[in-house]
Amino acid sequence: MRDETVEINRAEERLDRKTVTRHVPLSVLSALVAACGLVWIVRAATRGEFTVGDVAAFLAAVAGVQSALGGAIADATAAYHSLLLFGHYLDVSSGESDLPKPAEPRQLPALHRGIRLEDLWFRSRDDGPWVLRGVTLTIPFGRSLALVGLNGAGKSTLVKLLCRMYDPTKGRITWDGVDVRDVEAADLRDRISAVFQDFTCYDLTVAENIAIGDLKSIGDEKEIRAAAEEAGIHPDVVKLPRGYRTMLSRIFYQEDESGGYEQGVTLSGGQWQRIALARALIRSGRDLLILDEPSSGLDAAAEQEVHEQLRRYRANSTSVLISHRLGTVRHADSIAVIQNGSVTEEGTHHELMDRRGEYARLFDLQASDYVDSTTS
Ligand SMILES: Nc1ncnc2c1ncn2[C@@H]1O[C@H](COP(=O)(O)OP(=O)(O)OP(=O)(O)O)[C@@H](O)[C@H]1O
Ligand SMILES: [Mg+2]
Repeated sequence: MRDETVEINRAEERLDRKTVTRHVPLSVLSALVAACGLVWIVRAATRGEFTVGDVAAFLAAVAGVQSALGGAIADATAAYHSLLLFGHYLDVSSGESDLPKPAEPRQLPALHRGIRLEDLWFRSRDDGPWVLRGVTLTIPFGRSLALVGLNGAGKSTLVKLLCRMYDPTKGRITWDGVDVRDVEAADLRDRISAVFQDFTCYDLTVAENIAIGDLKSIGDEKEIRAAAEEAGIHPDVVKLPRGYRTMLSRIFYQEDESGGYEQGVTLSGGQWQRIALARALIRSGRDLLILDEPSSGLDAAAEQEVHEQLRRYRANSTSVLISHRLGTVRHADSIAVIQNGSVTEEGTHHELMDRRGEYARLFDLQASDYVDSTTS
């Protein structure tokens, strides 16, 4: 980073030098032209060819032309600057995805049987460490799968592969038997609703922040409100100065009733997390719901309430839940323990507790914390 900063500083210095070397001769030239004009008109006036009024008008005209020329150059510079930035915008917005495109994309059928992860291996660089090492898992249609494991075990990577943010290095993911690499990534993502662990907080209004999950609902206040209620953020939103129209930003201002501008507001971490949850829930009717740590920032009461709500929401829908709070994953139809990029245990809560393996160890560890604090 220091090397980059030094390089940027050097580039700025080169630019400053260039500006000075071009500005100084231009200013000198402009002063010379004005001085020559002044000498010429004063000498002509002394010969009686011009009146004092003519001299004054001439000086004003020279100053006017110079300032107009200066203004035109400044505008041209600003336009050039804006076009440079716009060029970057076009580069970013028209950039092709780095995922390989299928030669003949297949239609993705509505999910009926389930999703299979078949011997998935993943690493981000050819010489990097393996993040996933041969993960094989099934997410049957209409069932919920929970992933648990320590930090860095590979859980979020797994859901990123499910959404095709990256392709696996080896192995494949099938959706009712169709390899997801054979369909357009946009078609696949259209079938998925997700809350990511590193969700985005947009500098937009509350309503827009929620509706961005499903752009069709952008003007549909009823739908936005229903999603906010499901995510438990509605009571907080109505307390904001402009309800759902409140700008959630400290950078952008919004117009107030008197026609002036007022600063937006920011939310707490847990409130933002509920907004992210509402953004996923507004995409109702999708085939797969992914929840990566949807409640890590919520207080105990809110977490309980959100998980109750999500349990009802997830009943009969296909879902993947990642959470470190094992109390919230115990109701999943199946729980997979990921350790160092591999599935080491899989089963229901009771099966895994009976097995006395890693899941039981982590569960007892968390439970003992609560028990200790109530007995001591
Ligand atoms: N895009 C990436 N490039 C390089 N390494 C990555 C990338 N994504 C994840 N990793 C690495 O993969 C490993 C697994 O990360 P991942 O986010 O999947 O863990 P996790 O199980 O979700 O952990 P947590 O419980 O902390 O959320 C980490 O060591 C991480 O550094
Ligand atoms: Mg994670």
